[in-house]
Amino acid sequence: MGKVLAFTNSKGGVGKSTLSVHMAVYLREQGRSVALVDADVQASSSKWLREVSPEFEPFRLQTPDDLLEQIPALRDQFEFIVIDGPAGLSEVTRAALFVSDVTFLPCGPSALDLWAAGEAVRVVRQAQAIRKGPPVAVLIPNKLQVRHRLSRELVQTGRSLGIPVASGLRLLQAYADAAGQGQVVWRMGAEASKAAQEMRVLLEELLHDESAEIIEPGVTDSRLAVGSLGRH
Ligand SMILES: Nc1ncnc2c1ncn2[C@@H]1O[C@H](COP(=O)(O)OP(=O)(O)OP(=O)(O)O)[C@@H](O)[C@H]1O
Ligand SMILES: [Mg+2]
Repeated sequence: MGKVLAFTNSKGGVGKSTLSVHMAVYLREQGRSVALVDADVQASSSKWLREVSPEFEPFRLQTPDDLLEQIPALRDQFEFIVIDGPAGLSEVTRAALFVSDVTFLPCGPSALDLWAAGEAVRVVRQAQAIRKGPPVAVLIPNKLQVRHRLSRELVQTGRSLGIPVASGLRLLQAYADAAGQGQVVWRMGAEASKAAQEMRVLLEELLHDESAEIIEPGVTDSRLAVGSLGRH
């Protein structure tokens, strides 16, 4: 049975597509079988993925029915299913939360981003209550600026929301360039080396690392689930 990893949030422009494409390509380079499911009508991750790897055909499932009906079949075919969610807490996002094992919530460092993350966590909690457990939720701070007050607040917010906070990504031009060039940062040469290193560390952490900070005793099991993602 494949693992379903969804990137969702209530806000646009927080890095869902950037992280989905990098996660899908990374897993594939590790020799894992992976499907990228583009659940956003903008289809940015499908286009981006085709440029990175023309032979890597994305799946476009853009309605709640499509996600609920077709993800189980993809679980039988692939080791990992990476869902790039749309912006907003739409029915599509809710469906992604119903079919995923883990949902990653990328979050920018502005006050509006923090507010939106709180809304997203509320919807994650609803899905967890109905499903009596999953999905595991992990906040991914994005566009971090060292010494920026809101960046620190972002990490604090994750703590107060009671979900694990991953190490995150800094605000770096290389990430924006990657989308424009249809590339992943570790294939972009020296000028993207900082981003490449940081992205690899983050992806490894999301897949394997058990050092993600767990805030509430109640989510301790989540830690095990995240830690075991790469080991089945
Ligand atoms: N860490 C970063 N540093 C600099 N730019 C970034 C970073 N992360 C993402 N970006 C840029 O921010 C923009 C939004 O990122 P992305 O498209 O991944 O977000 P999204 O959550 O998928 O947005 P949408 O909700 O519109 O689908 C893109 O131009 C992307 O290149
Ligand atoms: Mg997107």
